[in-house]
Amino acid sequence: MLADHVPRDARRILDLGTGDGRLLALLRADHPEIHGVGIDFSELMLDPASKRLGDDDRVELVKHDLVVPLPALGRFDVVVSSMAIHHLEHERQRALYGEVFDVLKPGGVFANFEHVASATHRLHLAFFAAINEPLEHEDPSDRLLDVETQLRWLREHGFDDVDCYWKWLEMALLVGVKP
Ligand SMILES: C[S@@+](CC[C@H](N)C(=O)[O-])C[C@H]1O[C@@H](n2cnc3c(N)ncnc32)[C@H](O)[C@@H]1O
Repeated sequence: MLADHVPRDARRILDLGTGDGRLLALLRADHPEIHGVGIDFSELMLDPASKRLGDDDRVELVKHDLVVPLPALGRFDVVVSSMAIHHLEHERQRALYGEVFDVLKPGGVFANFEHVASATHRLHLAFFAAINEPLEHEDPSDRLLDVETQLRWLREHGFDDVDCYWKWLEMALLVGVKP
């Protein structure tokens, strides 16, 4: 579903919190012309990303901690992220959404597949039951945030067509387009 939001004519894509590069590899396979940049702060994740994508001369992997502003990487047609931004403190998430807006070209798309907060504690418990994980396995670095706040932030930063395009319990695809 996220891949459906990557326009056919996109040429540069940025993946925030790329991990082992799974999403970038999927998008590269779909878009042979696209140049990808993957950012992550963890050597542990960048090593497998490099094994997966290191031979691809259209992919660049950048070690960077998203708690500080994005480095100068040029402008992008698409910025994606998968299950990563929720590790940042809320104020930093908000600022990062603004930086994403700034690095996108007009018409560019931000597609963030994210772990979001449940509306109630009971629904949070239901999510953990549904994924068959005990609550004790909850990642202490999670800074989950509700969908509504994130959509509002995207609109406040100037994104258009902002919506939650897909959701299942605590997993959501948030998309905005730079006018
Ligand atoms: C759950 S993994 C998701 C990886 C990949 N996007 C995927 O969907 O398979 C979260 C990723 O975000 C990265 N991450 C978390 N906090 C980060 C930060 N402050 N700066 C950069 N990367 C971060 C982690 O290193 C990890 O690779």
